[in-house]
Amino acid sequence: MAQLWGGRFTKETDKLVYNFNASISFDQKFFEEDIEGSIAHVVMLEKQDILTEEEKNAIVKGLTSIREDVKSGKLIITEEYEDIHSFVEANLIDRIGDAGKKLHTGRSRNDQVALDMKLYTRVEVLNVAEEIYGLLDTLLNIIEDNLDTYMPGFTHLQKAQPITLAHHMGAYFEMFKRDSLRLKDIYARMNYCPLGAGALAGTTYPLDRGYTAALMGFEGPTFNSMDSVSDRDYVIEFLSALAVIMMHLSRFCEEIIIWNSNEYRFIEIDDTYSTGSSIMPQKKNPDIAELVRGKTGRVYGALMSILTVMKGLPLAYNKDMQEDKELTFDAIDTVKGCLALFNGMLKTIKFNKETMAVSAMNGFTNATDAADYLVNKGVPFRDAHEIIGRLVLYCIDKNTCIDSLTIDELKEISPEFEEDIYDAISLETCVEKRLTVGAPGQNVMKEVIAINKEFLKSNWMKDKKGI
Ligand code: ARG
Repeated sequence: MAQLWGGRFTKETDKLVYNFNASISFDQKFFEEDIEGSIAHVVMLEKQDILTEEEKNAIVKGLTSIREDVKSGKLIITEEYEDIHSFVEANLIDRIGDAGKKLHTGRSRNDQVALDMKLYTRVEVLNVAEEIYGLLDTLLNIIEDNLDTYMPGFTHLQKAQPITLAHHMGAYFEMFKRDSLRLKDIYARMNYCPLGAGALAGTTYPLDRGYTAALMGFEGPTFNSMDSVSDRDYVIEFLSALAVIMMHLSRFCEEIIIWNSNEYRFIEIDDTYSTGSSIMPQKKNPDIAELVRGKTGRVYGALMSILTVMKGLPLAYNKDMQEDKELTFDAIDTVKGCLALFNGMLKTIKFNKETMAVSAMNGFTNATDAADYLVNKGVPFRDAHEIIGRLVLYCIDKNTCIDSLTIDELKEISPEFEEDIYDAISLETCVEKRLTVGAPGQNVMKEVIAINKEFLKSNWMKDKKGI
């Protein structure tokens, strides 16, 4: 049991207590961030004449060698240390002797862990955003290729009006675009450095907090030392953005599952992204889509957990906050994995365009347009609605669609129908007449595509990577 705080104690910590308290099994995940923060700290301590140049050099060298040895597998992080901070400090002292004991000057594990967690999540915000960009790119390709792939649009999961596959995919593009912008906002808000806050009340050493912040690519230092060590808002914001991403993915998965079903057959999920049944030879199951949908619960759980952990905590640091890590790491890994898998699945899906178009034709999705046709001939809309309602009933009875009726049959229901009705209610016309911004008509969709291409080019996280 290697601890940093033995001096005040006369008895050994109970083994169970030690294990319950220890965090090394999971906080080793940010050992590189811990070292990065320590290097910035000692560089600043030397600049401020708190350490000598030799001491700083020895510490930086020692920390760098620890980092390399852990990465190469020469040095193993073991559970004999309470946490990653203790592991690094103990190994540093082992390697460079007394100078190593000065690393923690003007610092507490409270501001240290706040920094480590922030450094870790800050880059993960970018990693998640990058995965989202990959998905947006796939979506834009599908959109461009399917401006005239007609399909039914649904409300209440009932066929409603004809749209295109491009339009449907465009809806998801907007959702994931907002997700990306949410991450951008979170990044900007979180990008302030807590190091130098000490345990809670700053320190008496003349630290240059602005300098340390700049060394690690932060906008600047945080402005209240108590808030600095007890703030996990950025974790909560990040987890809520992740929860929204999963909500979007789960809706998309649900549609993919429905569209892939035997009844719909709008799409076929590629063999590489499907699974079979151990008993039913005919089965090809959409397990990946189901799993992504299922993992949404796990990410929501992480958000609920951290909100509950933070509720009612008095200022400043409390050990409860150690609970922020496992669930956050798990949620980040889950969402990145889901985005990558979902993107791969989407890229390889085959769209059965003919089936989609036939489904749109058979579902009376052009009924609104048929009513609009009568309105254009002078029939008041409410009457037109009633006439087309009767027409639909007639078709259901005859097991046919409006387009297939003869002009005589149509005229019997309303004398206003002329030969031009067929063109007016074709899938093409129904879609192409819808040209208000955001509608499925090809020309207006092309304008939206151009805007979204610019958005993808702007790639907001590009210049932030590698800080
Ligand atoms: N493992 C701790 C955490 O994750 C580090 C901070 C410990 N600070 C303390 N005062 N015990 O929160």
